[in-house]
Amino acid sequence: DPDRPADVRVELVARQQTIDIPGGHAIEGYTLNGSSPGPEIRARQGDLVEVTLVNESVADGATLHWHGIDVPNAADGVAGITQDAVAVGGRHVYRFEATDAGTYWYHSHQLSHVQVERGLLGAIVIEPASAEPAANAAGSTDATGAADVTALLHVYGGQHTLNGRAGDERVEAAPGATVRVRVINSDQGTTAVWSAAPFRVVATDGHDVNEPTDIEDRRVLVPAGGRADVAVRAPANGEAVRLHVGGARSVVIGDSEASDPPAARQPSETLDLLAYGAPAPLSFDTTAPDRVFDYVIARRFGIIDGRPGNFWTINGRMFPDVPMFHVREGDVVVMHLRNDSGDVHPMHLHGHHVVVLARDGVAASGSPWIVDSLDVHPGETYDIAFVADNPGIWSDHCHTLPH
Ligand code: C2O
Ligand code: CU
Repeated sequence: DPDRPADVRVELVARQQTIDIPGGHAIEGYTLNGSSPGPEIRARQGDLVEVTLVNESVADGATLHWHGIDVPNAADGVAGITQDAVAVGGRHVYRFEATDAGTYWYHSHQLSHVQVERGLLGAIVIEPASAEPAANAAGSTDATGAADVTALLHVYGGQHTLNGRAGDERVEAAPGATVRVRVINSDQGTTAVWSAAPFRVVATDGHDVNEPTDIEDRRVLVPAGGRADVAVRAPANGEAVRLHVGGARSVVIGDSEASDPPAARQPSETLDLLAYGAPAPLSFDTTAPDRVFDYVIARRFGIIDGRPGNFWTINGRMFPDVPMFHVREGDVVVMHLRNDSGDVHPMHLHGHHVVVLARDGVAASGSPWIVDSLDVHPGETYDIAFVADNPGIWSDHCHTLPH
């Protein structure tokens, strides 16, 4: 109902200005309501969210894209596809229903390799309609002090930050309590999450993992643009536990009096999400897809505007000369991703979430692995599937933004 009043209403004012980095040094960039990251938006599943972007001084214009949220096409915020960039002095209203609970983020989708890197971003969390404490999600029987924190990783001019600060995050938790850490990777490359203590991945890209198990001596990799909700238990003996988020920062969880636990070495072994958790039926049949596409990432030598280069290609062409994938509403789509480019690419589909069927021909054997941002490494192939249930023009791109 387009006339339905909003449950959550936010105004975000974009400015070109100096960003203060507590614990670090200020850089020239962009802010929303005076800070970067912008304010965290919290909504409840089913809420109608209305955000007004006001561009006060971003000279190149700006938009807001709701990364990972399956919004109506008109609210997708992609300059040149679903709207024009909002010029200085202009405003744009985004309205969407928060149908899927989970951890998401928002960012400008105009000159994104400049504007996102320099601060036009923030977190958005959609809480489940039936708010289950994080403790339950982690399989803990301890219902005390369950907390839910965001750890948004961003690199500002070489400075690694969590939630905009160049330092560790401290989270107060009672002994034995489980904390849900919502890791958001808004950086340009893959990041690693690990701890000396066991932890669990309870959601990927906003979608719950079925029956997650304890992870030990392994790291979890989060692609650029991706999220991992991690359940960490505060030690029962009143000490603190350290969750590393990227090489430089940690979230330290436990009693506020407890001393910081030492840093743990990054494990060389990586958790394979293809085989993590327990299988569960999918909501659609992937065995007889309506459309099957190849999406081959490679490189090609060429000259653009007189400058030679080795350019990224999709199916042999460069944007905007890549033929569109056409689907009908309701189609089950299977896509074969292949990376022949020699470099990793975090592939991000707008407006839909995809389920991973197989990697290098090996079928998924764990929980349904549902993503909107998927790292495809050189030489790898992935088979993914989704239901094209959201009409419109959607981009499907690499989230290493300079690419
Ligand atoms: Cu987070 Cu098209 O992007
Ligand atoms: Cu790329």
